[in-house]
Amino acid sequence: MNELKCTTLILGSGIAGLTYALKVVKWGDVIILTKKDRADSSTNYAQGGVASVMGPDDSFDLHVSDTLKAGAGLCRRDAVESVVRNGPDRVRELIDFGARFTWKDEEQLDLGREGGHTRRRIVHAKDLTGREIEQTLLNAVERDPRITMLEDHLALDLWVGPGPDDRPRCFGATWIQPESGERGVVRARQTMLATGGCGKVYLYTTNPDIATADGVAMAARAGCSIVNLEFVQFHPTCLYHPDAKSFLISEAVRGEGAVLRNLDGEEFLIDKHELGSLAPRDVVAREIDRQMKERGDKHVLLDVSAIGPERFPDRFPAISERLRTFDIVPGVDPIPVVPAAHYLCGGVAVDLDGRTEVEGLFAAGEVACTGVHGANRLASNSLLEALVISDRAARIAPPAEAENLPPLPPGPGHDAPAADQGVILDHEWDSVRRLMWDYVGLARTTALLDTAISRLSGMCAWAERLYHETSPGRDLAELRNIALVGWMLAACARHRPESRGLHFLPENPHTADEALETWATWKDSRPHVEFRPLPSPIDVS
Ligand code: FAD
Ligand code: SIN
Repeated sequence: MNELKCTTLILGSGIAGLTYALKVVKWGDVIILTKKDRADSSTNYAQGGVASVMGPDDSFDLHVSDTLKAGAGLCRRDAVESVVRNGPDRVRELIDFGARFTWKDEEQLDLGREGGHTRRRIVHAKDLTGREIEQTLLNAVERDPRITMLEDHLALDLWVGPGPDDRPRCFGATWIQPESGERGVVRARQTMLATGGCGKVYLYTTNPDIATADGVAMAARAGCSIVNLEFVQFHPTCLYHPDAKSFLISEAVRGEGAVLRNLDGEEFLIDKHELGSLAPRDVVAREIDRQMKERGDKHVLLDVSAIGPERFPDRFPAISERLRTFDIVPGVDPIPVVPAAHYLCGGVAVDLDGRTEVEGLFAAGEVACTGVHGANRLASNSLLEALVISDRAARIAPPAEAENLPPLPPGPGHDAPAADQGVILDHEWDSVRRLMWDYVGLARTTALLDTAISRLSGMCAWAERLYHETSPGRDLAELRNIALVGWMLAACARHRPESRGLHFLPENPHTADEALETWATWKDSRPHVEFRPLPSPIDVS
């Protein structure tokens, strides 16, 4: 087995992993494992931008209050305050690293607006914000010889065992190179999980293929608690076209004046929320879903005529280019859109410095739950949170090198896969994702969730067994994770008897007075879920 050693191991090369790498390198050498190409991340696809208080009419209090309102009573105020207040410094730092955001004039950034924000506060590079950030950070990482990036290295499991004080401690992680079948382990004094979200657990998603919830699954198997996993955000406006795989139409388009209409041209959000088409995402996605189900339509329409053919291509060049490939005239033709799984608001339990319950293991970005997003993330708060938490985590010195190493986590098997394994894995992938979409989607019922849980438990056990028997490729390693996280997610959803934020039960549309977090753990090969009160009372007035 190939063994590498470093001070800090980072799993993932999106905004969280790269930001952390640039800062944590001051404590010693860094290895980044990333499972595909270095830029293959959700970060690279982010369109809208980074929410931050940068405008003269804005304030930290307003950003905090918008975040708390969107979060439906479940945000942790200390986390929100910390992320919002650190935002402007982190944005200025990105600019210093070389990020070319869009400016209104020499003094003022051009600030966009998105759902749930009462001010213009979205720092953007037109609709290619993520690509600009990813490239800027990658360039900086490539300039630092103390940071090694290993592409096509898929982390399988965290290496966890008892530390000196008997508290669980992380010693690194195991990996495979899916194409060559090579296996190895990286031993590190500390490890950062920055593996992103779980969009691929669902059939329809805005996320790229890397978003298979690997970090959540690895952390759960290593004994970490997973918080508020049921809160999956569905983005309201994913392009609806048979040939358009996962293409997002940014909320910033509505921020510039576009409105949602049903196929009869009715602006159906106007009497549902004071912000109309710019209401928070949970409200908008649910109303679209309702319109589609009640009317039997396959999509709704985004009317962009208020932006027009002059302004639209200039403000949204990448979206315009994609629309043209489908013969949709940017700024003129209405855009057919549907909701799709977009963002995981819950995740691995961490404190405000990204520390997990396991010593020497940190998590930041979409994989982690700091409590900032509560039951529904405010648009463009995700890149912001990743920047702030990675920065804070990197300030902590690594623990001393461990002397006694525990056994490696149980590895994958060595038997050659059966000739028809590819067909079976394709089918199982599709089954998990379809089941999650149909049974654990935008509107959930007890019966649907019970069915999902019973089917996912079987799928999860089957994938785990196959993983330990045969030599896994990418498909099996990832299926093992989406099945486990799908099961945990359904179990958390089943545990919550109220509707809150993104979790909607038509059987009980009411929100309970007390806001409770779900804490899930993985023990004896199954999820265990309990409620815990928020650490501090939340004021959403
Ligand atoms: P990612 O950027 O997803 O990076 C995860 C990394 O981990 C990748 O390098 C991946 O290859 C690697 N990885 C995963 N599993 C493994 C493994 N097992 N082994 C090794 N490596 C692994 N948020 C905003 O705030 N503003 C926006 O405008 C915005 N727009 C978005 C648009 C789209 C289309 C999407 C999909 C998301 C958008 N989001 C936006 C959300 C935001 O982009 C993500 O939440 C954020 O980029 C996550 O960053 P991250 O570093 O946590 O993960
Ligand atoms: C978008 O541009 O609509 C995505 C913004 C986000 O997910 O925060």
